[in-house]
Amino acid sequence: MSELRAEGVASKSRGQWNSTFGFVMAAAGSAIGLGNLWKFPYLAGKNGGGAFVILYLSLIVIVGFCLVLAEMSVGRKGQSDAYGSFKKINEKCGFIGMIGVVTSFIILSYYSVIGGWILKYIGSYFAGGISGGESSNYFVSLISSPLEPLVYHLGFMMITALIVLGGVEKGIERASKFMMPTLFILLIFVGIRSVTLPGATEGIKFFLKPDFSKITMGTFIAALGQVFFSLSLGMGVMVTYGSYLKKDGNMPKDSLTIPFIDTIIAMLAGFAILPAVFALGFEPGQGPGLMFVTLPAVFDKMPWGNFFGGMFFVLVFFAAVTSSISLLETSVSLVVDQFKLNRVKAVILLATIAFILGVPSSLANGILGETMIFGKNFFDLMVFLTDNILLPVGGLLLCLFVGYIWGPEEALKEITNNNKLKFKLGKLWIFGIRYIAPVMLGIVIFNCLK
Ligand code: PFF
Repeated sequence: MSELRAEGVASKSRGQWNSTFGFVMAAAGSAIGLGNLWKFPYLAGKNGGGAFVILYLSLIVIVGFCLVLAEMSVGRKGQSDAYGSFKKINEKCGFIGMIGVVTSFIILSYYSVIGGWILKYIGSYFAGGISGGESSNYFVSLISSPLEPLVYHLGFMMITALIVLGGVEKGIERASKFMMPTLFILLIFVGIRSVTLPGATEGIKFFLKPDFSKITMGTFIAALGQVFFSLSLGMGVMVTYGSYLKKDGNMPKDSLTIPFIDTIIAMLAGFAILPAVFALGFEPGQGPGLMFVTLPAVFDKMPWGNFFGGMFFVLVFFAAVTSSISLLETSVSLVVDQFKLNRVKAVILLATIAFILGVPSSLANGILGETMIFGKNFFDLMVFLTDNILLPVGGLLLCLFVGYIWGPEEALKEITNNNKLKFKLGKLWIFGIRYIAPVMLGIVIFNCLK
């Protein structure tokens, strides 16, 4: 009891979520990002439509939910940053959290470069839109110019830093409580516009018509990778956010809600994007090409296109910024907790370093485009390092930690508030975290190394 009280006091001084709604919005805000908007719809369409969606949903339930809960329980038990939380539970295991912090920091550096492009596009839509025939040139000339994208990268990083400066409750929670519901409403608007265009059914068919023959090992790995990236797993974010939870909350319920909202938004993104792309005679693709080249051309051909285009990029911005704040907070939390630096100094220091680390990523689309490291330009190398190596390794270590070192029974005590809460899926969760998730992650790592 006294330990509990001491933890309560400690956590007060390091910040705490003020409400469950605020926490869920912040965690869902971290999860919902570019992964949902520019990757999921295309992945689904390309890899068997409805069949892929079923596979993805199963993986979300089996692996995603298990790991969200595991990460949050480590954070709430440790009541510290990602490194400190693992270390508090087991002296030798701080490095697992450290891998997560490093991963999220690297992701932040390039995520902010993309965030900068989004800012530029919002400006362009407010200034009158982007001509459809020019959209490809427009994008290429933006990202390949040396200075302009850096200015926007700086702008995006500063917005991220300003929110994180506000702290857990007054910065992150408040921003997420406004941005996430607004994003949802904007996405519904754009979705309605999209599915009511003549010819929209082709897009819906591409997205959802099931083709089970496309489900292969490759599809399985793509789906699992997407579950990971989309739920911000394996990088200390959910540990950090979990550490700001009050001790008497309902973690099982919250950790079901987050993947649920994340998936709904990914599905809605499919309805907002693909029908419009097909209705207006374009081919879907994924990643930056879809968002920054195809969609502006689609909006240009659409009645009221500039209005919907502007709305769309604002919602993309909300999705990206609520993810980037979680990435920055993960390392800020480490520096504040471990080095006792005050939050303002920590935020300025880390945002500056992340900005600098992002510079070569930004230049890799232009003047550093020919500079290859291990056969990849700097940007692609960073993406490869995080998505293909650090994320699955971080995830696997987390499963092994909770499943075998801390022990699932101990973790369950944390999850159920010392057996005060009923958690009917407890046994299943233990099975998932000890056997299913590690085996699946092992397969992914094996394939990446191949
Ligand atoms: N989950 C975010 C997305 O789907 O775009 C990206 C992300 C955010 C990854 C935060 C990792 C993270 F820690």
